[in-house]
Amino acid sequence: MKSFTLNNGLELPAIGFGTYKTSAEIIFRAIAAGYKYFDTASFYGTESCIAQAIEQSGEPREKFLIASKLWKTQMGYENVKLAFEETLENLKTHYLDVYMIHWPRPDLDNLDWKALDLETWRAMEEIYFAGKVRALGFSNFLPYHAENIIKNSRVMPAVAQLEFHPGHTQTFALNYFREKKILLQAWSPIARGRVVEDVLVKELAEKYRVSPSKICLRFCLQEGVMPLPKASNFERMRENLNCFDFELEPEDLSRLENMPPVGWGGEHPDRVRI
Ligand SMILES: NC(=O)c1ccc[n+]([C@@H]2O[C@H](COP(=O)([O-])OP(=O)(O)OC[C@H]3O[C@@H](n4cnc5c(N)ncnc54)[C@H](OP(=O)(O)O)[C@@H]3O)[C@@H](O)[C@H]2O)c1
Repeated sequence: MKSFTLNNGLELPAIGFGTYKTSAEIIFRAIAAGYKYFDTASFYGTESCIAQAIEQSGEPREKFLIASKLWKTQMGYENVKLAFEETLENLKTHYLDVYMIHWPRPDLDNLDWKALDLETWRAMEEIYFAGKVRALGFSNFLPYHAENIIKNSRVMPAVAQLEFHPGHTQTFALNYFREKKILLQAWSPIARGRVVEDVLVKELAEKYRVSPSKICLRFCLQEGVMPLPKASNFERMRENLNCFDFELEPEDLSRLENMPPVGWGGEHPDRVRI
């Protein structure tokens, strides 16, 4: 399995590159390492870095898939239209591959987030129907946030992004998105390094003779989840893309699924950040 097919038929590479806290130079390196899918957000400030790196690569934009996200302050019908145009300008492109709502609510005081999400989604649907984005999705939406959109909209979300790695699998959400045929993408798939010292992850890394990072990424793939690792160094970039040379045995997969919680980044859409 080297790709995932979304519920609307769009094919995505099995592994994407996360661009949070990167630069045009790092993204250019990632292109050289073989990445085709780039995850960004208006909040990251890396949209223009992707444009710069693609330009530098000499490859046409169509060779790549780009996902971006609408920030909390950009929600609402009119704001979405403006934010989307800004994102296209930053990326120097006339279309996006995936467009997502970054968080389901702008802040914890916003009690009317359901109406705001629907208004936001309606504007995104119009962009989708105009052919300017190939798939819609959301990030940090849990099943009860997702239901609001699914039950009240015309376009079925195709992608959901959540923190996901060994030790933080959000199993109820994973099962929900599987059942709805919405592709789950893993952000922080190697927990920014917080799980590499875990005793089980280390044991399996030794058993399969791979790095702990590769155990994490392979875990995502075998769960049907698309990982979006970020790395700065070329060798690590290559290593992370090359997760198809081994397979976790069912028992090891089950051990990873059932290990004690570890490595959570502290963010939850309905809680103050820890
Ligand atoms: N939707 C959201 O709210 C949200 C939130 C967070 C992240 N994201 C997305 O998910 C992407 C990835 O998440 P992340 O950046 O938080 O964390 P991550 O990919 O889990 O971890 C990145 C860290 O792991 C290190 N690393 C990468 N490959 C390695 C390897 N093979 N061996 C050892 N260390 C390795 C990197 O080091 P070096 O960089 O030094 O190489 C970096 O410090 C982001 O870039 C972003 O696109 C989305």
